[in-house]
Amino acid sequence: MSPSDPPLPLEPYRIKAVEMLHRPSRDEREAALKRAGYNLFNLTSEEVYIDLLTDSGTSAMSDRQWAAMMTGDESYAGSRNFAEFERTVQELTGFPFVIPAHQGRAAEHLLLSSLARPGQKVPNNMHFDTTQAHVLRQGAQPINLAIQEAYDVRNEHPFKGNMDTPKLETLLQKEGSGVPLVMMTLTNNTGGGQPASLSNLREVSRICRAHKVPFYLDMCRWAENAYFIHEREPGMGERSLREIGRACFDLADGATMSAKKDGLVNIGGFIATRDAQLVPRLKETLITFEGFPTYGGLARRDLSAMAIGLLEATELDYMAHRVGQVRYLASLLEQDGIPFVRPPGGHGLYLDAHAFLPHLKGSELPGQALVVEIYREGAVRTCEVGGVMFGGAPSTPDAPPALELVRLAIPRRVYTASHLSYVADTVRRVWKRREAVRGMTIVEAPERLRHFLAKFGPAMERGGAKGAGPHAAPHPSDRSPSPM
Ligand code: F0G
Repeated sequence: MSPSDPPLPLEPYRIKAVEMLHRPSRDEREAALKRAGYNLFNLTSEEVYIDLLTDSGTSAMSDRQWAAMMTGDESYAGSRNFAEFERTVQELTGFPFVIPAHQGRAAEHLLLSSLARPGQKVPNNMHFDTTQAHVLRQGAQPINLAIQEAYDVRNEHPFKGNMDTPKLETLLQKEGSGVPLVMMTLTNNTGGGQPASLSNLREVSRICRAHKVPFYLDMCRWAENAYFIHEREPGMGERSLREIGRACFDLADGATMSAKKDGLVNIGGFIATRDAQLVPRLKETLITFEGFPTYGGLARRDLSAMAIGLLEATELDYMAHRVGQVRYLASLLEQDGIPFVRPPGGHGLYLDAHAFLPHLKGSELPGQALVVEIYREGAVRTCEVGGVMFGGAPSTPDAPPALELVRLAIPRRVYTASHLSYVADTVRRVWKRREAVRGMTIVEAPERLRHFLAKFGPAMERGGAKGAGPHAAPHPSDRSPSPM
């Protein structure tokens, strides 16, 4: 290591079980892309070497979590594991009513089917795709009200997940009862994993209370959000992540959670609320779609793993390493001037596909072209967060131009610094031949959530832009089909 090398993120754990990986050869990668219709959601995991598609449900559980899985009380009703889980969520959030669900979108379904009605408007800093889909499913309109800085990828604003509170105030004044709830997503996943500040949450809460509109948090990455508050907000450096988390929850009426993120489990979620009147409605839908309120679509052992994971995610050493990994990857890419959303986010690094591939028009799907190229180069799977993910849905009026991003989401406690260095090398190699990368076109797509199911093909050849795929230079580690 030279003094100019970025600091290595130090693991506050050691590894006691390993999963072997295969690195597919160039021919295998090319065949996989064709078979998958150039949609990386259609790849099999054996076709991927480093999987940065999502940080959701891909964490490594701890020995304590695995041990708890062995002590499941699998009673249909009144399981001991539920009591432990309920107590933990109550203590962390202060919300008295806790309803488990199999994952975040199930919690969103419960909340939005209970509160939102056709024609209403649901503001959020930025909707995640499943939240947006649930708002639309109720015939309501999702409104993104993140601050303007959130749409400027180069802006170093420390809290780009903040809500534009004057806009929120205006909307609530105009719409009155046409707004059934206000949501804030912590962190702002769609906008680059960016946090919201405690002072912004305080102001949103004040506005909601003044207008008597319920305020709910999407708390998927609440512990990462708390870490950024700890680091960046004046006066917060001495407070623990649990205290900061609790200060955020105290401002809200409830929260939906995908524990597949900051719950450090492979499956699980919940909704928690202070609203006693809402609970019977939530439970009725829960029983119809998920299961009895003491298991919510999960095995009871999953509830214990979730309770432990929620606590582990608030350990400062763990979180410093986690966010440190994203920063490590960012500093490697920065050396080549590769454009990404600044500052680096909590759960991943988001490449700016427009700036990476400026020769491609929006209609040539630069984000999709880039995820395909990064896979083609090094069997690294990433995720488009741009025109494909959000282009199919009705847009928010007056919304700033959409971001066209490629997310390199880092699974929790899974990859090492050498893996991240390999990823950086792969992205750098695409960067070097970026001018030759061709656009993509949609071949078939469903109406909603199309990024999961769409099929793509290379866009027609244009002047100057030649197919990069099979002509790209071989990677140094391409010498044998399976170098591992
Ligand atoms: N809200 C946010 C902010 C999310 O990021 C996700 C999932 C959900 C809700 C839904 O949770 O998957 O448990 O149903 N995000 C994953 C991702 C899929 O890759 O970012 P879920």
